[in-house]
Amino acid sequence: MSTSLTNKLVTITGAASGIGLSTARKLAGRGAVLSLADYNASNLARAQEELASISSSPKSIYSTTLDIRSTSAVDAWIAETKEHFGRTIDGCANIAGFHPLWTPKNIEEISDDEFDEVIQINTTGLFKCLRAQLAPGILSSPASVVNVGSVSGLIGFAGDSAYVASKHAAHGLTKCVSKEAGKRGVRVNAVAPGQTNTPMVQAMAVEKGVLPTPPVSLQREGQPEEIAEAIIWLLGNESGYVTGSVYRVDGGMLD
Ligand SMILES: NC(=O)c1ccc[n+]([C@@H]2O[C@H](COP(=O)([O-])OP(=O)(O)OC[C@H]3O[C@@H](n4cnc5c(N)ncnc54)[C@H](O)[C@@H]3O)[C@@H](O)[C@H]2O)c1
Repeated sequence: MSTSLTNKLVTITGAASGIGLSTARKLAGRGAVLSLADYNASNLARAQEELASISSSPKSIYSTTLDIRSTSAVDAWIAETKEHFGRTIDGCANIAGFHPLWTPKNIEEISDDEFDEVIQINTTGLFKCLRAQLAPGILSSPASVVNVGSVSGLIGFAGDSAYVASKHAAHGLTKCVSKEAGKRGVRVNAVAPGQTNTPMVQAMAVEKGVLPTPPVSLQREGQPEEIAEAIIWLLGNESGYVTGSVYRVDGGMLD
């Protein structure tokens, strides 16, 4: 299938699992050229192998094991992506994220380390990716950046302060960077998923027992492919007049 993303160079963090892997599969199937990153080396190697078999050219898939908390690793990955493919980057899907599997904790029960770990991945890690991607000479014009936030970036949930704070910040970064980058032809948006059936949520179910059906209009959780479709629409020219937006893909949770 030829789309506006065919032959476009797109980076994806969190590409080894869940929403990131689903996005990578769809982009590879539509002929995009991909630079994948994740800190889970074995899952990333599996993803690379699978995606090379979907892609029209195995050379179109480049992968790097890295932790988005590392400034030097993120900067090197973005610079190497440009160098490896010999061209500027057309799209960035910043999807890597972390939810602690702890039982809900009120603020007075959360340790410094527990709070910091979530913020360092979901907020500071995202900041480091955006900073590297928006550096002069890295992105094409036009280009599109899509960050994955959460419905937890739109409302509060008792017992989940760190994650909720980290995702509100992710949406804030999205809005600020969109205002800085628009004049360069770079759009920056976020997708805010509701509860989605990925290994992150499956791990919570293992820890806590069966998760209740989320209280949403569609009365079911989302599938990673459904979140990936929104990310891909925002990456492509089809959404060319959209920037600074946070798109809920949550089955109708808030209204
Ligand atoms: N699943 C949900 O219900 C849900 C809901 C709202 C938002 N989200 C967000 O969607 C995104 C994807 O989550 P998912 O559900 O697919 O989870 P997932 O755990 O299946 O995938 C997340 C991927 O990110 C990688 N990752 C985590 N921290 C990293 C780091 N520091 N450096 C590099 N890679 C790292 C993990 O190794 C994993 O492969 C996350 O940002 C998450 O917060 C998920």
